[in-house]
Amino acid sequence: MYYGQQAKYFIIRQINRNITEEMTAKGIFFFKKKEKTGQAGINQRNVRKIQMLEQDIERVLFSEEELDRRVNELAEQINRDYEGKEITLISVLRGSFVFMADLTRKIKGHCTVDFMSVSSYGKGTISSGQVQITKDLSDEIENRHVIVVEDILDSGNTLGYLLKVLAQRHPASIRLCTLLDKPDRRVKPITADYCGFTIPDAFVVGYGLDYAERYRNLPYIGILKPEVYTKS
Ligand code: PRP
Repeated sequence: MYYGQQAKYFIIRQINRNITEEMTAKGIFFFKKKEKTGQAGINQRNVRKIQMLEQDIERVLFSEEELDRRVNELAEQINRDYEGKEITLISVLRGSFVFMADLTRKIKGHCTVDFMSVSSYGKGTISSGQVQITKDLSDEIENRHVIVVEDILDSGNTLGYLLKVLAQRHPASIRLCTLLDKPDRRVKPITADYCGFTIPDAFVVGYGLDYAERYRNLPYIGILKPEVYTKS
């Protein structure tokens, strides 16, 4: 009985193996249950999440390619202006982290980087005007050529405050580089020395910019559908 069962299972396994080999030879592939929930399954779930993220975008304002081209141009301009000088790039977190990373890698001369965290928006869409330094620089900037790197210049409240605070630390020079400028919303008379794009008064996200801490991971800059920020 025992040997009989073993023989039966051996024959069934052999038949299955033959079928599998034959199908594989013909280019027909089938996966075991475990493989279905493996890497392929995870990718499909991620794709669904990305699609959900993109559903909230009304339209793409600047594609990855456009951003790359403009960041290149800004870096070339900075490289020319600071030839022979060492600069300190200060990223204003969190929004500028993507722009900062891309810009920094295109700077040809020696440079140092530092980070500062300032917040005036919280989870809303309008600047409260109350600027808070939530993380200060790690190093001194005295006698350094400083470039403040921002993702967006909007009301100017944040940078008006920040540039004043940094100027009091006696840098050799201080300039502002912003990827986006929304002049229509300006409250403080702040002008950027380097500006990627001047944009209309729309709520933009992606490439580091957020709404309620989301959308920073979009590789392009898009306009957020108004219903996303009006429903909460
Ligand atoms: C954004 C942006 C600037 C500021 C510009 O920061 O990064 O720092 O707003 O706006 P303003 O010109 O009206 O002051 P936010 O406070 O949203 O924080 P985040 O960088 O963490 O997104």
